[in-house]
Amino acid sequence: MGGLVYYSSESGNTHRFVTNLGLPALRIPISPKDGTPSADRPYVLVVPTYADGEGRGSVSKRIIHFLNDEGNRKLLRGIIGGGNRNFGALYCHGAKFVAQKCAVPLLYCLELSGTPEDVQAVRAGLARFWRENT
Ligand SMILES: Cc1cc2nc3c(=O)[nH]c(=O)nc-3n(C[C@H](O)[C@H](O)[C@H](O)COP(=O)(O)O)c2cc1C
Repeated sequence: MGGLVYYSSESGNTHRFVTNLGLPALRIPISPKDGTPSADRPYVLVVPTYADGEGRGSVSKRIIHFLNDEGNRKLLRGIIGGGNRNFGALYCHGAKFVAQKCAVPLLYCLELSGTPEDVQAVRAGLARFWRENT
């Protein structure tokens, strides 16, 4: 099974979701002072969206910094998006953007910290994804 990497802001929704998955995961720290981790195996990245009304700034600078590292970028295999449907057409915009930019599939989108159904779907989906992609 491959890895899981995520960013979560102070609101902690993505952190709660990943904790509920119960899978080993690497967190990109909120503060640059705490450093930027290096992935050591293929991974799926969980990307919450923080956009202004026009979709700008939708991806955290911490995620951009993480992906600017070529080693990290090379090991990226897929994206899971976090968002809120209240944002309409911009739902999960940041995750869609990163998936397109890095040419990897957007595997799933969930709202806030996800429902128990999201947790089940992502656990099963990741297991299948890594079976098919390793
Ligand atoms: C300033 C701000 C802008 C946001 N913009 C979007 C958006 O454009 N699209 C979307 O789907 N969700 C948007 N959201 C919702 C967040 O993606 C959602 O709350 C997510 O769960 C945050 O994850 P975190 O608590 O782990 O940081 C926005 C949230 C904030 C605070």
